[in-house]
Amino acid sequence: MVSFILCLLPALLAMSAQGETLTCNTCFGQTDTCSFAPGTCQDNKATGGCLSVAEAITLDGTQNTYFYKQCLSSYKSDIEVPISFTVGNGKYVRINTTRCNTDNCNSAVLGVPTGSTTENGLQCPTCFALNFTLCNSSVTPCNGDETYCIDFTGFLYQGSSPSPFQAKGCATASAQAIKPGANLISTPYTFSFFWGQSVPAQKIPTSGASPALGKFSFALYLPGLTGLLLVKLLS
Ligand SMILES: *[C@@H]1O[C@H](CO)[C@@H](O)[C@H](O)[C@H]1NC(C)=O
Ligand SMILES: *[C@@H]1O[C@H](CO)[C@@H](O)[C@H](O)[C@H]1NC(C)=O
Ligand SMILES: *[C@@H]1O[C@H](CO)[C@@H](O)[C@H](O)[C@H]1NC(C)=O
Repeated sequence: MVSFILCLLPALLAMSAQGETLTCNTCFGQTDTCSFAPGTCQDNKATGGCLSVAEAITLDGTQNTYFYKQCLSSYKSDIEVPISFTVGNGKYVRINTTRCNTDNCNSAVLGVPTGSTTENGLQCPTCFALNFTLCNSSVTPCNGDETYCIDFTGFLYQGSSPSPFQAKGCATASAQAIKPGANLISTPYTFSFFWGQSVPAQKIPTSGASPALGKFSFALYLPGLTGLLLVKLLS
């Protein structure tokens, strides 16, 4: 046993001198068989990581699911945990993510977050608008674990063409990791957030005033406009 370890030692030292490699699984698919390009990839163990993602996105009006596993050149990145947000009219983004940095740690295909349809007693202004169209928000009940309200402007990249967007809606607590300057990468899009915030959602009032006129939605509306103007100025 000792001689075996002694034999291995020079090999191990040589490897660490060159920078150890990390091996991850790869695949891509629109179903959970994730059957395209199955294999492995390598990255630098010190900085890289393995990624597994399952996502469901309906921003263009149809539901698309995507599954992939790949290497990450940077283990640390902006948004590292499952995240979902719902922006009204059946449009949502739900991303289940695992990031890890041991060999083949991304071998499992993740489940797409199903999204609860049970109202949780909270509400947010919701809307989604592209290319400077009006984000005409209406206050909508939130479901399941979407207990935060998001209000963001930024650019949505599909391929290389950027479309300015504004999004408001209910989101998981993990959406607090979305900060101006952050990127959220999904298969069809990259969201590059330019301005915005996440705040705990307010309770649906039990009676009385119209929810759409609460001080809360007004407070979110003003900075949203400012952000949109800034996006417009800079584009
Ligand atoms: C992510 O996938 C794992 C493995 O399939 C599953 O256990 C978990 O519930 C999923 N997370 C979400 C938020 O759906
Ligand atoms: C915004 O939506 C409300 C109700 O959904 C509608 O009554 C109103 O006309 C819309 N405003 C604009 C400017 O589109
Ligand atoms: C928004 O603008 C981009 C870039 O010009 C374009 O590719 C995209 O189709 C537009 N989207 C909508 C919904 O108008």
